[in-house]
Amino acid sequence: MRAIQQRSFGGPEELRLVEVPDPHPAAGQVRIRVESAGVHVVDTVVRRGGSAGPAGPQTLPAVPGREVAGVVDEVGAGVDAGLAGRRVVVSLGEAGGGYAELALAPAGEVHLVPENLDADAAVAMIGTGRTALAVLELAAPAAGDVALVTAAAGGIGTLLVQAVRAAGAAVVGLASGEQKLALVRDLGAAVTVDYSRPSWPEQVQTALAGRPVTLVLDGVGGEAGRAALELLGVGGRLVMFGMSSGSLPPLSAEDVYRYGITVCAAVGARLVRRPGGLRPLAEQALAAAAGGTLTPVIGTRFPLAEAAAAHTAIESRATLGKVVLHP
Ligand SMILES: NC(=O)c1ccc[n+]([C@@H]2O[C@H](COP(=O)([O-])OP(=O)(O)OC[C@H]3O[C@@H](n4cnc5c(N)ncnc54)[C@H](OP(=O)(O)O)[C@@H]3O)[C@@H](O)[C@H]2O)c1
Repeated sequence: MRAIQQRSFGGPEELRLVEVPDPHPAAGQVRIRVESAGVHVVDTVVRRGGSAGPAGPQTLPAVPGREVAGVVDEVGAGVDAGLAGRRVVVSLGEAGGGYAELALAPAGEVHLVPENLDADAAVAMIGTGRTALAVLELAAPAAGDVALVTAAAGGIGTLLVQAVRAAGAAVVGLASGEQKLALVRDLGAAVTVDYSRPSWPEQVQTALAGRPVTLVLDGVGGEAGRAALELLGVGGRLVMFGMSSGSLPPLSAEDVYRYGITVCAAVGARLVRRPGGLRPLAEQALAAAAGGTLTPVIGTRFPLAEAAAAHTAIESRATLGKVVLHP
């Protein structure tokens, strides 16, 4: 099969298309003929030699890819033969192996793809959608909220904008560039501001005409995350779930006290240890997309062979919505 393999840590050029022997499922595993593989910001961190979780840096060589959707074409010993031929989606997590024509997964971890979802939508919901739901569970947006979302045109951001809007809250969507801002407006944001411009916090304040921000949903961190939280009114809530800028927002207990932030919460790498596990959240995310309550935005599709270009696009902030690879 063809797969993307990484032999050394470094730039996107380390992601090379190679021919490797077809994998076969061990006992308890299924093999999936991949139709869509998700690409994450964290994949770029791992590629450079950073760690995605408690396991530390990736052991190389490795085939990256944390999630795939496709059709089961082989089952291992002890696996229900009825799974063969079924459309499934699975989060592979740190085990990886998704940037490939064929991927192995534990049979007990796959989810059947709802009939009306295509492979890209299923891939967008299994991890990105799952995290968005975890953020929403913590943030509990409600009518009357003014919710500020950073990277609002991103994979998680586009889902948050829709859900916050559906909860009756007003959305302030931050994104870079007119194309992203237009998308965020189309999704229902009342205010959109380009936060790559220096005066953006003042623009938000002017647009809100004195109404305070009550909720910040931040996956960017760094200076943008810090400026976002400084826009919170007294009693505001802050939920952090990522650091696309490279760092969390600088924030101390004193800041929480001084700004009167009432909820300072995070969805981080330990989400995997969430009581009750991640499976119910993933099921809810798939059901939300199948039922039309959330529509994943698949902004950027690349052929498998162009995985390096997908990473370059993510690192240069050139992607909209979820990024997927097609073998
Ligand atoms: N905690 C969890 O369980 C979990 C799970 C999945 C993802 N995450 C994290 O959540 C965040 C959002 O994930 P996502 O998949 O939805 O990504 P994404 O938002 O689709 O992509 C990242 C976006 O961050 C913005 N950004 C701001 N500064 C950046 C910089 N210096 N370099 C690159 N991008 C920058 C860009 O949007 P603009 O150009 O509009 O600024 C970019 O498009 C990521 O940090 C990710 O690692 C967390």
